[in-house]
Amino acid sequence: MDAPTGPIANRWTRLVGVAHPIVQEGLGPFRTPRLAAAVSNAGGLGTVSMPGMPEDLEAGARLFRDHIEECATLTDRPFAVNIPVGVDANGEVLPFTDVYIRMVLDARAADAELARRLTVLTTSAGFPGAYVDRIHDAGMVHQHKVGSTRQAVKAAQAGVDVVLAAGFEMGGHAPAAMVHTYVLVPSVTEAVDVPVLLTGGARDGRGLAAALAMGAEGVAMGTRFITSRDNSDWHPAYIQALLDAREGDDVAFDGVYGPCRGLRNAASDELVGRGRHGGSDAVAETRWKIESMQRAQTEGDVEHSLVMTGQVASAIRELVDVAEFVPAMAQEAADVLRGVVGSQLGTPVAVG
Ligand SMILES: Cc1cc2nc3c(=O)[nH]c(=O)nc-3n(C[C@H](O)[C@H](O)[C@H](O)COP(=O)(O)O)c2cc1C
Repeated sequence: MDAPTGPIANRWTRLVGVAHPIVQEGLGPFRTPRLAAAVSNAGGLGTVSMPGMPEDLEAGARLFRDHIEECATLTDRPFAVNIPVGVDANGEVLPFTDVYIRMVLDARAADAELARRLTVLTTSAGFPGAYVDRIHDAGMVHQHKVGSTRQAVKAAQAGVDVVLAAGFEMGGHAPAAMVHTYVLVPSVTEAVDVPVLLTGGARDGRGLAAALAMGAEGVAMGTRFITSRDNSDWHPAYIQALLDAREGDDVAFDGVYGPCRGLRNAASDELVGRGRHGGSDAVAETRWKIESMQRAQTEGDVEHSLVMTGQVASAIRELVDVAEFVPAMAQEAADVLRGVVGSQLGTPVAVG
């Protein structure tokens, strides 16, 4: 079956086989199978998120697999999974990464219909070099999210197919290098030959057009898709807190694999400015943070739990319908690139 084509078609849309260069990226440790399916059905690429790292990792893997299978029943288009390469204070890869990647590869090997849909694996956080061959041998596209040009070059040299350039304004796991998209994306697109997606701060077709102008081939969004009518799995109070957020209401605090960006509240106040916890109870503290994030999402406790969001929440006032939003965003980007820039060009006059 030929991939559908939208108003913007490029190396990335052809590689992944989607109509629009628009991704709903991983939103762990939360439930996103319905949101992912909605984005894939709309012609973008949806992502099933990792469900946290419970003490019983096999139980975590079963829950993750349930989410993946739920997504596959809701769409017959390509979709992705996001699995961070978790690294502890000593640089050791945390066991959940291995367990979850193995689960994804096994699930695909056992089910050809699932393998036809679940075609992209996006890693993030630590260096994914140890997984590149396994992901490729399974026939999947490997995307990796980076926060610096140096990491982008390293990932591309290791063989990843796509780099996501993550700016510090992004929601969730904000990169420690603290470089913003406007600085990072052109540097990354100059430095690597593989397709690059901008992640952090995009919310409409203008942002997509800007990303394309900087040499990227698409955008990967989190906050814009959290605030959609298709995100029926999250507590309404979480979504409302993002709609109510204004400039300055977000903050980067000591998070799970490094800094995290979320709303200022009692929970994030406790973590702001406190260096990374490296002691023997670091794992327990990480679990506490993950449970706090999950409480915000499931119970709507937005005052005393960690509410992850990007800075762009300050500019989002309304929910969108994903089915309409994704193609309209691609069309707006195409219109911007064709029209607005041209309309600002002066008419050359002869001088002298
Ligand atoms: C609530 C939330 C959870 C996130 N969880 C993850 C995650 O598990 N893995 C990951 O790589 N990125 C995660 N991110 C980052 C997103 O995948 C995406 O890169 C980011 O949201 C882009 O910035 P934006 O929110 O400004 O669109 C998360 C972001 C948010 C807001």
